[in-house]
Amino acid sequence: MITGRLLILVLLVNFTRCDIYKSCSEVTFCSKFRNYPATRSEYFTAEIGEVNEDKMTNILTLPLSNEKDVKLELQVSFLSNFTARLRITEVNRKRYELKEVLDHEPHAVKYDITQQTNHKLRIHPHGLHDASIIISRGAPFSLELAYKTHTRINFDSSQLVFESAEEGEAFSFNVGFQGSTNLYGLHHHADRMTLRETVEADSDPYRLKNVDAGQYQTNSTKSLYGAVPVIYGHSKKSTSGIFLHNAAQQWVDITYKEKLKPSARFIVEGGTLDLFLFFGPSFKDVVRQYVDLTGRMHMPQLWTLGYHQCRYSYLTQDDVKEVVTKMEEYDFPMDAIWLDIDYTDGKKYFTWNPQNYSDPVGLQKYLASMNKRLITIIDPHIKVDSDYPVYVGGQGKYFVKWENGSDFQGDCWPGLSSYIDFLSPEARAYFANWYRYDKFNGSTETLAGIWNDMNEPSVFNVPQWENTFPPELVHYGNVRHRDIHNMYGFLQTKATHEGLLARDKHLKRPFILTRSYFAGSQRYAAMWTGDNTGDWPYLQVTYSECVLSNLVGHVFCGADVGGFFWDPEPELLQRWYQAGVWLPFYRGHANADTKRREPYLFPDDVQTVVRNALKTRYKHLLVFYTLFYQHVTNGDPVVRPLFYEYPDMIDIDDHILIGTDILATPVMEKGAKTKTVHFPGNEDTFWYRADLCTGNWTVHRGGTNETFNVDIQNSPYFYRAGSIVVVTNKQRTSTEGLLDDHFTIYANADPKGYATGFLYSDDGVSFDYQDKDYFCLLEMKYYTHPVYGFHYEQVKGNMELNFSFKEIVVHEIPESGNIAPISIEVVPGK
Ligand code: GLC
Repeated sequence: MITGRLLILVLLVNFTRCDIYKSCSEVTFCSKFRNYPATRSEYFTAEIGEVNEDKMTNILTLPLSNEKDVKLELQVSFLSNFTARLRITEVNRKRYELKEVLDHEPHAVKYDITQQTNHKLRIHPHGLHDASIIISRGAPFSLELAYKTHTRINFDSSQLVFESAEEGEAFSFNVGFQGSTNLYGLHHHADRMTLRETVEADSDPYRLKNVDAGQYQTNSTKSLYGAVPVIYGHSKKSTSGIFLHNAAQQWVDITYKEKLKPSARFIVEGGTLDLFLFFGPSFKDVVRQYVDLTGRMHMPQLWTLGYHQCRYSYLTQDDVKEVVTKMEEYDFPMDAIWLDIDYTDGKKYFTWNPQNYSDPVGLQKYLASMNKRLITIIDPHIKVDSDYPVYVGGQGKYFVKWENGSDFQGDCWPGLSSYIDFLSPEARAYFANWYRYDKFNGSTETLAGIWNDMNEPSVFNVPQWENTFPPELVHYGNVRHRDIHNMYGFLQTKATHEGLLARDKHLKRPFILTRSYFAGSQRYAAMWTGDNTGDWPYLQVTYSECVLSNLVGHVFCGADVGGFFWDPEPELLQRWYQAGVWLPFYRGHANADTKRREPYLFPDDVQTVVRNALKTRYKHLLVFYTLFYQHVTNGDPVVRPLFYEYPDMIDIDDHILIGTDILATPVMEKGAKTKTVHFPGNEDTFWYRADLCTGNWTVHRGGTNETFNVDIQNSPYFYRAGSIVVVTNKQRTSTEGLLDDHFTIYANADPKGYATGFLYSDDGVSFDYQDKDYFCLLEMKYYTHPVYGFHYEQVKGNMELNFSFKEIVVHEIPESGNIAPISIEVVPGK
């Protein structure tokens, strides 16, 4: 009886949590702009005759004005790397200029003007006349970004409207993507990959306002925990993109009404209109152009790519020890166990529960002896408690404030709390300092990662503010919360990153998981998709969520395996473990009211499937590690949608590419007996079915669809013909020692008999790969002409080649039918 009542209560609480989020019509500035067609008298004209060229900054400026006598200034510049910047400011009003988000201050490069009349101005990055910006006087004026002879992006100023000072600070503008068939971006929404029509359909615009969106809906344009204001316009022929450098709440209407000219209308609550435009022309190019601005992550420590076991909460240290022991006993590899809020003393972060976690150091010693790491949660709310040093030290100084200067207090896990003002460098340093081993008593090096949660930020029981901060709160430097809302979580992870770096004397790469994030958060933290539900649609949406995050720099993405809410049926749990293998971050997690679901608690058949999934992950860890290195060096995504490599393949949301060489097509449908795979590429592309569990190998041609029988054991994935995939087949319980294994090389020959690949290694922990080039990048080649051979050489890094290979398994495309791979023993030392 009691359990039943409790369950109903929990569901109600979650329901109210979801229901408080407003639609556009309930948000004054959104409904006003959405239904507000600007009239002719508001259209702006670009006074091309009054262009001002600043040869020092390489920024070109033009006045904009309308019949209502509103005066604006348009600034245009080019950055290196095929990017342009467009800023529109009001002559008589200063707005908040975003700081911290960009990886470095972008410098404008020289430009050339090749056409200048009273009506038209055409400019190019110096010497690059394929790329241009054309400004037409108007009214309304227009600004086009063109590559070669084609317009890519059209800034159509008929929707350019700024609220007057009496009304507020909202503004709107419209961007068209000429020639594009699909728009992608506006991460994060739990929706399919392609952005949907919101104007003609009965739908709210996409919203970007970070909120604690527990039990969110799928197929929705509603806000979730993170916000990245990027849109890519894509067609089979080319891709271009935009990034709005603005962290205020925003709504974006998407329409495909005009054929081959989809457009996005931004309605933004405040801040500056500071827009970056990317020329592309390929998907790879636009992603690199965007990531160049907002930064790449550093290498993760190797162990972070293993499996993570979490639960809200493991209530005692003995429970934690038991889970780790049982995982080992039942042969489930894992690298880390996580402590949710209950490890603390009354939800006071940087403390331990004196009864249940009386010996944190002993616990960590035990974990270290099993080669496991501990990760603990540290949220941004600080309990109001005059006996709690973290609160006392911050009171009146480091917390976010009301306009009258008093500390804001809101309800969260500990009860009444104040919230660190992470915009302030001093407050960040204050918070960061608490991570020191001597300040966070009971922490040791085994406590190797930190989980920053509830950092949208979440405030309980204030539905009028959608359970977050009211917009009028004041941050350091007199900045209104409204102007930086979407980067609060970003700033918390920046502080944590500083703290972990200092704690470990810059000798270890910090590992942080964050729930809330913004453009650029990848520099500090991995992210996950928040409180999903143990139901099939949530499994199905994970690939599009993480693929889109990968396209905007957040490569270290995962989703709670099994679903946070509800008890997943065993079939779903197994399918989720299989799909999770291929996402960069791999963690099982569950809410407090769910049944325990550590894998060893299930019947043998379920255990076998989960074990195989975990082992498949560990076999491919170096594939992931090598891809992270590629991201670190050039910004590329780790997991990719098919259209990223094969522009024809649009909208196949349940297939992903791991780099270029592995195609994963896990089963995500309840009761599925078959899986249809759409093989990317053309008749010269081939894919080998690589089922390491059954030992079956078949070959499949690109550009075809094939339907496979799939029992619960089968979760198809394929190696690309032409690739070399290095796996570690050794049975192991964690990543410890993995780099010293004898690897197996899969040489997957293309029709001409060739295969190539790269393999990366370093010390797995430190920044020496960055500071001292202490790493090893190997290039491998397999060939059949003029003789058979396998060749590898170190092409980068000064760490002595430390790989050892056990065998090479060769796949070749047969005349017909199945293939029997040849396995060649590698004599050690050769
Ligand atoms: C939030 C997190 C969830 C965590 C819980 C308790 O709901 O999203 O992962 O378990 O808080 O800390």
